[in-house]
Amino acid sequence: MSVAATANENHVEDVFDPAIHLNYAAPSSTISLSDLGLKGTASSTPIAGSVPFPFLSHEGVLAYRRSILRASVIKACGQTYGAGTVVLRNLAQHSKFVRDLWSHPETTRIVSEVAGVPLSVIMPTEMGHTNIQTSGNSVEEALKEIKVELRSEKVEMTDAQREYDPLKENSVIPWHYDSYPYVCVVMLSDTTHMTGGETYIKKGDGTAAKVEGPALGYAVILQGGQVEHLAARAFGSVERITTITSYRANVDGLYDDSYISNVRPYARFNELYPEWTAYRLEKLKHEIEHMQRTVADATARGEPVPLGQLNRFAEQQISYLKRTVRQMASPELVKSVERRFGARAIYDAGKTWDKVRASPSFRERLPGAMEDARAWTEVSRYLVDWYETKGAIERGDVEGIGSQHGPFSWDRPVEEYLFGDELLRQGLKEVLLEWLDRTGMLALASEQK
Ligand SMILES: [Fe+2]
Repeated sequence: MSVAATANENHVEDVFDPAIHLNYAAPSSTISLSDLGLKGTASSTPIAGSVPFPFLSHEGVLAYRRSILRASVIKACGQTYGAGTVVLRNLAQHSKFVRDLWSHPETTRIVSEVAGVPLSVIMPTEMGHTNIQTSGNSVEEALKEIKVELRSEKVEMTDAQREYDPLKENSVIPWHYDSYPYVCVVMLSDTTHMTGGETYIKKGDGTAAKVEGPALGYAVILQGGQVEHLAARAFGSVERITTITSYRANVDGLYDDSYISNVRPYARFNELYPEWTAYRLEKLKHEIEHMQRTVADATARGEPVPLGQLNRFAEQQISYLKRTVRQMASPELVKSVERRFGARAIYDAGKTWDKVRASPSFRERLPGAMEDARAWTEVSRYLVDWYETKGAIERGDVEGIGSQHGPFSWDRPVEEYLFGDELLRQGLKEVLLEWLDRTGMLALASEQK
């Protein structure tokens, strides 16, 4: 198959029309945090996720595929993410259809209705992030494979595939929290012969609740930044293409618990960092205006300035602003780590850190590694953060401290909260890998006990 198998380059994109391209019907049920036995945090909202619901019409799926499965778009937006997956990012800049669909008020109304809270797309670069399962290892190979027409051929499953259990074996994406609070996942492939592809959500008692994957044109919504989940592998079908848009709650006073840790390793910095900065500052502006109104209203009622509330506000916005900048790790460092170790190793940095810590020579190597960190100007800010977090642990006051991997807790002695733990708390996995590598500690991960 050649590039010609993808949509005609001269094809003029369909003009998005909700009456033609959407086919929404409310999900038959939603799952709340309390259904799952989860308490939630100050920044979560009650609904954890939905079962699949009709979202795109058949015509909508076809128009979407015609817009993104074009050689020029795949070349401009595609990159490999581990073997067998091509991701398309920043599609909104290359497809008016995608941009119009995700920024249309009707789409926003639908996702907000399902999530039970008004939502806003995180930033334009996150509109329609698309995952394409391929058998190739490069964008060029994927180009030969991808077809704009829907494919429904069945692929015989192997015995191992039939017996696959995502809770015991490798899942496509192991247990994790998303970088962003909410996600809407839309299926662009025929799932008739597909087995698997479900999402599992970890319940309060440690067991897993299964949510079926969406069928063609269906969507699911998940509060993926607040619930730990995994994606099961899918077998039996010749293609699997999903398109995903991330959201935050558009509610004044509700802390936006977003990170860019999961997207940073494969993002383009000239797209991600300016958009991230713009939206985070815009949200901060709204929060400031909201507080101005609160104070003005109190004054108008003859009440004193709400100092308690104002103090909490100040602490929250300081932490918000710090996270905004801290998340933008040095592009040179991120790129260099990505080149040397690959996206998968970055993803698994937490596991690597556990192995390093468990190594018999770790304690003796740590002082030297900390000396290196103190002399390394690029990480001096993270050292300050580490001291602050340790102080909060000491005071038993960690409630306001978030983490990129779910609610933050620390029930061990403060001295055991190490610099590596702080980098992981902030989701700065590239910085952690770089530090472990430059201090020779990375080798400890493969040391035999
Ligand atoms: Fe996820």
